[in-house]
Amino acid sequence: MKKLTITRPDDWHLHVRTGAILKIVMPHTARQFARAIIMPNLKPPVTTVAQALAYREEILQAVPAGLDFSPLMTLYLTGATTADEIRKAAECEHVQAFKLYPAGATTHSDAGISDVKAAYPLLEAMEKNDVPLLIHGEVTDEACDIFDRERVFVDTSLTEIVRNFPELRIVVEHVTTTEAVQFVQSAGARIAATITPQHLMFNRNALLAGGIRPHHYCLPIIKREHHRQALVAAATSGNSKFFLGTDSAPHLTSLKEAACGCAGCYSAHAALELYAEVFEQAGALDKLEGFASFHGADFYRLPRNSGTITLEKTVWKVPAAYGADSASVTPLKANEELTWQIAQ
Ligand code: NCD
Ligand code: ZN
Repeated sequence: MKKLTITRPDDWHLHVRTGAILKIVMPHTARQFARAIIMPNLKPPVTTVAQALAYREEILQAVPAGLDFSPLMTLYLTGATTADEIRKAAECEHVQAFKLYPAGATTHSDAGISDVKAAYPLLEAMEKNDVPLLIHGEVTDEACDIFDRERVFVDTSLTEIVRNFPELRIVVEHVTTTEAVQFVQSAGARIAATITPQHLMFNRNALLAGGIRPHHYCLPIIKREHHRQALVAAATSGNSKFFLGTDSAPHLTSLKEAACGCAGCYSAHAALELYAEVFEQAGALDKLEGFASFHGADFYRLPRNSGTITLEKTVWKVPAAYGADSASVTPLKANEELTWQIAQ
C-alpha cells in the first residue's frame, strides 16, 4: 500500500506543557489530530474548571493559524478536589474527564492521590455525574519492582475501583502489560485503554541493552517483548476498547540526558506515522482508522471527526531535535528514518 486515507484522528492522551515547549509541540499535534485529551500535570496542576479554561486558551494561542484543533481538557484529581468541582466539570463542555495520578507515580504527580480508597467519595461523584476517570495505573510502593508496578495496580486498586463503581467510565491510560490488556478485555464496555507508540514499538532492550537510552524512558516503563506483542495484538484487533493515546510527553533534552533523567517520550512530531509503521508490520493497516479515529470518540461520546488525513509511503528522516538550543526537545526516533509521512 502506498497511500492510506483515514478519518481525521484524535489523540486521547497528550502532554503539551506551557510556555516555550507548548509553542514547539502544539503545531505537531494540530497538523495531524482534530482533538486531544490534554493532561493536567502542570506545575501547579490543573485542578479546577477555571484553570482548565485558562489553560485551554493558552493552548489555542499556540495552534498555528489555519489549523482546526480542539483541546479537550481534564482536571487533576487531588485529595482537595470537591464534589462541587466534579459537578462543574460535568457541566463544562470543554472539560472531559478527571485524571488520577497515584502520588509519586510519574512526572509532576506529587499532588496526586496517596490513598485511592480515601478518594472513593470523589469517584462516586464522578460516577453520579457521568464524568470519565482516567487512571495512571501504577502502584508507588517503593518495595515494588518498577517492572511490576502496573500489574500490581491492576490486581489491587484497579480491580477494586471497577468493582465498586459499576457505572464509572474508566480509561486505563498507556497500558504496557499483558495483564492490563487482559483486564481491560475482560471488563465491561465502560472500561477502555490507550496505547502509546513507544510501547507498541519497543521492548525494554531498546531502553537498556547496549547503552542506556534516556529518550526511550517513560512511565510506565517499557516492558518485555511478550508484553509488547500483547499490546500490538490488542491495538490491531479492532476491539473498540483500545484507542490511540500517544502520551507524548516533551521534556527539555538537557533534562532527559541527565544523571536522573525525566520520564516521558516525545512522539507528537510523528505520532500517526509511528502507529502506521506498527500497524503495517502487523498486517493490520485496515484497523488503524478504528484505533485512531473512532474508538476514542465513541468512548467519550463525542462525534467522530468529519475530515480525512492521508498518509503516504515516503521515507523521511526525523530531525535530531525540535526548538532552539536553549529549549530543545529530542523526538522519538531522532535521526532515524520513518517510512510513512502525512501528505501535504
Ligand atoms: C508523563 C509526563 O512527562 O508528563 N511522563 C511519562 O513518562 N509518561 C507523565 C505520565 O503520563 O506518566
Ligand atoms: Zn501521560
